[in-house]
Amino acid sequence: MNIKDSVFVITGGGNGIGRELVLNLLSKGARVAAADIDQAGLDETHRLAGTASDQMSRHNVDITNMEAVLALPTKIIEKHGCVDGLINNAGVIQPFVKINDLDYDTIEWVMNVNFFGSVYMTKAFLPLLLERPEASIINISSMGGFISVPGQGVYGASQAALKLFTEALYAELADTNINVSVVFPGAVNTDIAARSGAVIKSPQDEQGKGSSFKPKPPAQAAEEIINGMVKRRFHIFVGSDSKYMNFLYRISPRSATNFIARQMRALLEE
Ligand SMILES: NC(=O)c1ccc[n+]([C@@H]2O[C@H](COP(=O)([O-])OP(=O)(O)OC[C@H]3O[C@@H](n4cnc5c(N)ncnc54)[C@H](O)[C@@H]3O)[C@@H](O)[C@H]2O)c1
Repeated sequence: MNIKDSVFVITGGGNGIGRELVLNLLSKGARVAAADIDQAGLDETHRLAGTASDQMSRHNVDITNMEAVLALPTKIIEKHGCVDGLINNAGVIQPFVKINDLDYDTIEWVMNVNFFGSVYMTKAFLPLLLERPEASIINISSMGGFISVPGQGVYGASQAALKLFTEALYAELADTNINVSVVFPGAVNTDIAARSGAVIKSPQDEQGKGSSFKPKPPAQAAEEIINGMVKRRFHIFVGSDSKYMNFLYRISPRSATNFIARQMRALLEE
């Protein structure tokens, strides 16, 4: 799709991959409405946008709050006039603990942010997107959404739910103006663990330094996501880890699951 002069709504635009998506799209001439629960993060993204910052609006919203999400389209239309693209990027991980040790509040929080937050945003903006000549919905799932990661069982389930939701949306909207893509990043070098309150026993393993795959810089991840959107890809795999695990999972789901479990063992040892 054409990026210049288009209006994108991006959740989680205050940090990490979301911030880089905002900056990248602004640099390509888009207008961006960035939504985040972290006002300081939004302000920093705005500062980093430099001269393009007047093309960016900031929206302090908790995407798990349905009422707040449903009020967002009116505010964004007031500011930008229309919406051509929605990128559901905001997300959290869970503490690195086994399902047996995971409390119900955390389970609900992870599902609410990663799955229901994206569902609310999609339903809130779909009517506006259907009015445009061409539009996009990009949902950021995870490599953990197609291959299970021990210690991230509910995170994976939330991202797998988002994957199937997005694929159904793609099929339902196939004959419309809206292209739909789902993104599976592997390890990306952000502070998601700290921001999600997940204690990491081995920071090396968290960022993939202990494995042969290097985590991607978030700016590079954002560029790949936007390229995938422009090319209207159905699945966008970000990073060689994600591409490799997709390949391995298709050949042998059990071997792929065991492979990841071995990589993650250090994080889960008592
Ligand atoms: N970093 C990785 O290695 C990695 C790998 C695979 C998938 N992902 C996915 O990519 C997306 C972005 O991750 P990231 O690494 O940039 O994380 P991040 O923590 O750097 O950024 C996530 C942003 O989402 C915001 N957010 C969290 N809860 C929110 C809520 N309830 N309402 C509104 N905003 C909220 C945070 O404030 C933050 O600004 C997530 O969906 C994540 O699951 C990340």
